[in-house]
Amino acid sequence: MSNISIIGTGNMARTIGARAIAGGNTVEVMGRDQSKAADLAKALGEGATTGEWGTAPAGDIVIVALLYDGVVPVVAQYGDALAGKVIVDISNPFNPTFDGLAHREETSIAQELAKAAPASASVVKAFNTIFRRVLEEGRPDVFIAGDNAQAKASVEAFIESLELRPLDVGGLKMAHWLEGAGVVTVGLANHGVGNLDFALSITELPV
Ligand SMILES: NC(=O)c1ccc[n+]([C@@H]2O[C@H](COP(=O)([O-])OP(=O)(O)OC[C@H]3O[C@@H](n4cnc5c(N)ncnc54)[C@H](OP(=O)(O)O)[C@@H]3O)[C@@H](O)[C@H]2O)c1
Repeated sequence: MSNISIIGTGNMARTIGARAIAGGNTVEVMGRDQSKAADLAKALGEGATTGEWGTAPAGDIVIVALLYDGVVPVVAQYGDALAGKVIVDISNPFNPTFDGLAHREETSIAQELAKAAPASASVVKAFNTIFRRVLEEGRPDVFIAGDNAQAKASVEAFIESLELRPLDVGGLKMAHWLEGAGVVTVGLANHGVGNLDFALSITELPV
């Protein structure tokens, strides 16, 4: 069981929160609109609570479920309140035409988040390649990236509690390519697949 805090009250916060509660975890919801946070915590039911925006989250794992351009400013605003936390970034920084990244350099929102977070926090990229409905109803593989092995292990344990398979793609610099994979999923949704009801997964040959 993990203690999770979710910063954000939108679709992904609701979906991850519901799966987290179903998996026996506790969930604290934090929103810049306190009434939205309270409504979401109520909807998530037993095991969910409401936290106060900007204060130290109760959870050991803090999932930042915000639109990408809010992620770094909000983490900077939380500042030392995030000391020692495992921070999970799920964002997709799409360009305006959804066929590229919003940032030009070979960086990622997760790496920029790590620069804004306290040195004692660890950042893990996860969940960004999975469309919301698939995360709600399916059993998609969850690709993760991060530099701290202990932080990744705790996020992997959380993902396994959701009855999903975590797959480690490497260090935090791989978050750039996971964000690129997010762009690929949108391309597939708009072209080859034609809908949002799928997720990228890996196929292994039998050993
Ligand atoms: N939806 C998907 O299928 C999906 C899949 C994978 C990854 N993601 C990623 O998950 C993240 C959340 O997506 P979502 O679908 O949950 O979006 P959403 O439903 O639009 O919710 C966005 C949340 O971010 C908050 N927010 C936005 N800008 C903010 C800012 N500057 N400061 C503070 N809070 C801010 C909103 O708060 P208010 O309600 O107060 O405006 C809301 O709680 C995004 O980065 C997205 O790329 C989404």
